[in-house]
Amino acid sequence: MSKVTVVGAGNVGATCANVLAHADLVKEIVLLDIKGDFAKGKALDTNQQGPIDYYSTKTIGSDDYADTAGSDIVVITAGIPRKPGMSRDDLISTNAKIVSSVTKSIMEHSKNPIIIVVSNPLDVMTYAAHKASGLPSSRVFGMAGILDTARYRAFLSMELNISPKDFQAVLMGGHGDTMVPLPRYTTVAGIPITELIAKDKLDAIVERTKKGGGELVKLMGTSAWYAPGAAAAQMVQTILRDENRIFPCCARLDGQYGLKDMFLGVPVKLGKEGIVQILELDLNKDEMALMNTSADHVRKVMDVYEAMGIS
Ligand code: NAI
Ligand code: 2OP
Repeated sequence: MSKVTVVGAGNVGATCANVLAHADLVKEIVLLDIKGDFAKGKALDTNQQGPIDYYSTKTIGSDDYADTAGSDIVVITAGIPRKPGMSRDDLISTNAKIVSSVTKSIMEHSKNPIIIVVSNPLDVMTYAAHKASGLPSSRVFGMAGILDTARYRAFLSMELNISPKDFQAVLMGGHGDTMVPLPRYTTVAGIPITELIAKDKLDAIVERTKKGGGELVKLMGTSAWYAPGAAAAQMVQTILRDENRIFPCCARLDGQYGLKDMFLGVPVKLGKEGIVQILELDLNKDEMALMNTSADHVRKVMDVYEAMGIS
């Protein structure tokens, strides 16, 4: 049985820990936050749910990195979320420092963890965590594609009145408005999506997906947490079960898709050592152009991060 740390006991972190506890797969979850009592309260509440929902996983709330010692997987959700009118990129000046310092503290207590980054702006925060950790890129990656693909699949399910269980899709690129949903790789129970939906409706859903995070920020005044927390927990479970499942994740590219030295959303195979393989799809010219636009956008945010001079 394994040990998982979730840093940040806010909306996304606490949801991730709670979903993970329900899977009853992990011996111990450490929920760490600078607000120690807040983390302890969320952990205690999750433990008190165990007898009702029938799981044995123990959750510990803490503000002390010594409690994270020997973690197999660490999920980083620490940082501020956006408010209405903000883009994910606006969070960089606060979150870059937080993600780098959290990663260094984690590495002082765990030798060879797998790190899953959730904090925004996601692609650049994953780059920052990789840099701060000194770990191989197969062990540091980000969660965004599972969430964005889930939004896309949910919108399609609502439009067609077909169970969300039957939708499979690939979505690539950065976690922002330039993300690249791929209708050519979208199926419903094996049927190409284009056989079931009119082009204008599909185009509208692609556009809604790209702005899916902002839609929720407008409704709630802060960003989403149920689907994001569950998506990060799904990655943890896949790794611990060594399932070799294919998910869109934010991974370091070293020449794949003609891109290098950056983190971007691509389909990967996830297993017990982290990213086992990056899948290279045969994108057509239009799809590749969208991917390059998204990469250019992420590079601009990377430049802001580099200019901050965080070591
Ligand atoms: P939140 O405000 O509810 O929770 C963040 C928590 O981080 C707070 O409890 C805060 O005390 C803690 N924190 C801040 N600095 C810390 C530090 N140095 N060490 C430990 N803990 C620290 O925010 P929420 O909604 O949970 O979002 C967290 C992050 O995740 C945000 O940056 C948000 O934009 C991002 N996000 C990313 C998604 C994705 O798809 N990658 C989806 C949803 C949110
Ligand atoms: C989301 O997409 C804010 O990245 C977060 O909900």
